[in-house]
Amino acid sequence: MSPAPQSPMRSIIVGTGGVAGLHAAAVAAQPERAVVVAGVDIDPARAEAFAREHGLASWTTDLAAALDGRLPGRPADAPPDLAHVCTPPGTHVPLALQCLEAGVPVLLEKPPALSLAEVDRLLDASQTTGVGIGVVVQQRFGGAARRARRLIADGALGRPLVATCHTLWYRDPAYFAVPWRGRWELEGGGTTIGHGIHQMDLLLSLLGPWAEVTAMAGRLARDTATEDVSTAAVRFADGALATMTSSAVSPRQTSSVRIDTERATLELEHLYGYSDADWTFTPAPGHEDLAEAWAADGPGPDSGHDSQLAAVLDARDAGEPLPVPLADVRDTMELVAAIYASAFTGQIVRRGDIVPGHPFYERMDGTGAPWAGDGR
Ligand SMILES: NC(=O)c1ccc[n+]([C@@H]2O[C@H](COP(=O)([O-])OP(=O)(O)OC[C@H]3O[C@@H](n4cnc5c(N)ncnc54)[C@H](O)[C@@H]3O)[C@@H](O)[C@H]2O)c1
Repeated sequence: MSPAPQSPMRSIIVGTGGVAGLHAAAVAAQPERAVVVAGVDIDPARAEAFAREHGLASWTTDLAAALDGRLPGRPADAPPDLAHVCTPPGTHVPLALQCLEAGVPVLLEKPPALSLAEVDRLLDASQTTGVGIGVVVQQRFGGAARRARRLIADGALGRPLVATCHTLWYRDPAYFAVPWRGRWELEGGGTTIGHGIHQMDLLLSLLGPWAEVTAMAGRLARDTATEDVSTAAVRFADGALATMTSSAVSPRQTSSVRIDTERATLELEHLYGYSDADWTFTPAPGHEDLAEAWAADGPGPDSGHDSQLAAVLDARDAGEPLPVPLADVRDTMELVAAIYASAFTGQIVRRGDIVPGHPFYERMDGTGAPWAGDGR
């Protein structure tokens, strides 16, 4: 028997800046299943403009009241079913903790936290309160990625052997003028945690756990405290080898993932989101029949906030945890921390090395970037 249909999910959007619009649009695309009841921002003008633009019933600067179901101009109501946290990275953990303590599940924008220590603090709070946290990693949710994940996990493609994962973006100096960008204590890091994380998280979701990394990072061309380029060589637990580059200084922008397995090459090239058409599947000689398996259930949905929100609603209907559970994204955050640790110490860093007491556990820049102290 299928579960009884639920009443529409009522959510609030906390932080009504750039990315919040993608959340509002994703909810608006599911009018039977979800509604945003309010926008919340410390800046009242932004919250009001956002509520007007997206036709929301209310807006407020008072998160505690919104979490309690008390919204300006509305009768008192039950607490919301979900809080989308879309604020700058340095505010994610305190705001998410406030939501958890109020009993409201959180859909948290990337990066979920500034450090592994903060991720673990959130995981503890989620366990103590029994309230879930999902992280926005929308690149996992395109139809082709789901198919690739299934074919790799089933063993249909044989063992993954070698992979590349590149996020080559261009962010001009004006982009970094926003006060929270380019600073370790507010953003957690630079292009690795801010941009490359999407592609790296997608690759990890396809290949499984990583084992060790050796990396380099540079602050080459932007007036920031954080890096604007990093490169890493990563060995996966099953032996596969990958190279990963994150850049904020690449004029021809592209995001790409390529995986060569024993029986096929999978390639994705796009910029900020993909459709099935952005993937190429090349079977190895003698394995041409796999092309049918690749085409079998396509075309699937595009990646994006819409696809992840649909998965959030499906999970709610099925009584499953909010996707993607923070515990699953911890592996990606640990890889990010390990890239910084390797780049700044010149050592190979293994999964499990960065634990409480390790300098890169509390801060992604650990003992400090090599260029720290040069006045920028
Ligand atoms: N998943 C994606 O593809 C994607 C894309 C862009 C940004 N992001 C992430 O989304 C987050 C927000 O990025 P953005 O570009 O929308 O930032 P933004 O600066 O455009 O907007 C942030 C908003 O949060 C508000 N705010 C700040 N502190 C607050 C607080 N304590 N309580 C309530 N509101 C507060 C600000 O007033 C602002 O309106 C970042 O973590 C960023 O990395 C994700």
